Amino acid sequence: MNGLAKPIILGIEGTAWNLSAAIVDTFDVIAEVTSTYVPPTGGIHPREASQHHADHMKSVISTVLANAMDKEVAPGDIKAIAFSQGPGLGPCLRTAATAARALSLSLDIPLIGVNHCVAHIEVGRWKTPSQDPVVLYVSGANSQVLAYRAGRYRVFGETLDIGIGNALDKFARGAGLQHPGGPKIEVLAKNASSYVPLPYVVKGMDFSFTGLSTAASAALKTSPIEDVCFSFQETAFAMLVEVTERAVAHTGKHEILLAGGVGANMRLREMLRIMCNERGISFYVPEQRFMGDNGSMIAYLGLLMFEQQTLLPLNESHVRPNYRPDDVVVTWRGD
Ligand code: ATP
Ligand code: FE2
Repeated sequence: MNGLAKPIILGIEGTAWNLSAAIVDTFDVIAEVTSTYVPPTGGIHPREASQHHADHMKSVISTVLANAMDKEVAPGDIKAIAFSQGPGLGPCLRTAATAARALSLSLDIPLIGVNHCVAHIEVGRWKTPSQDPVVLYVSGANSQVLAYRAGRYRVFGETLDIGIGNALDKFARGAGLQHPGGPKIEVLAKNASSYVPLPYVVKGMDFSFTGLSTAASAALKTSPIEDVCFSFQETAFAMLVEVTERAVAHTGKHEILLAGGVGANMRLREMLRIMCNERGISFYVPEQRFMGDNGSMIAYLGLLMFEQQTLLPLNESHVRPNYRPDDVVVTWRGD
């Protein structure tokens, strides 16, 4: 097999609560294995999540390699090891990076450091017809509006405090709902009967969610939980859609791509779809498995970087908990 013509890459994702390893080629996912840390109570404890990743690393890696063998891909066919270098929780990132370094050394193949946010974008471009989108990336820790311009994914707008997913989860915890709260809020919101006014905070092109989360918790004293869940979604999603629409107007792009775990929300999709229809632009949502954190997106961006020989020397493979998508020089897009 000609390695440069059809590279096969192993990727490890471990920025937060998902440990996921995948092996991909240019066309598709060959194998993917994921182990999710579920906190016994409350939210994510970084050290416990990293301990989970350390405990499950051996079985996740050996299973993904065995599953690839079933498809006649041997460890010797893998051309590089990609890992999520950041952004994320330090202890979790370090566990994934340690495993990636060990694999790179034992298989004697290069290491590739992948930006987690950019991987969300590239897997969306891979798995939908989207080519040059404005991206709304909404997850637990991240909320950003991005688009490609002059060799980088520029951040056009982002949260000034916490990610939308964490804001939903924080409110849900206070309301006695189990983690993760986002899906439970979506279900409750369907049975609402009225809108409760909540703070709508867009400053320039950025948004903020802590005030909204706190006000929603306070509103529970006077309003039914269904109404508060509905109002939280309507307010927060309207903020996100407003900034996304303004980024479309500013960049003149003709596509929107949704990424991140909160993208599972049907009401958010509906609001974005309405806006896209009104503007006559396309709206793309990848299959659910490619929206939340997954090893395939790390392996796939690793593959694009490998093709450009954008490799990471071992002595520069420290993790980057605050790694921004606009720090990445995009070497793999011809446009
Ligand atoms: P990242 O490391 O990129 O921040 P993450 O660790 O938060 O990612 P994801 O799977 O991308 O993981 O997103 C998880 C978040 O998505 C949680 O906050 C969860 O509440 C939220 N979420 C999942 N499903 C829904 C839904 N249907 N509606 C709203 N939020 C949802
Ligand atoms: Fe993510």
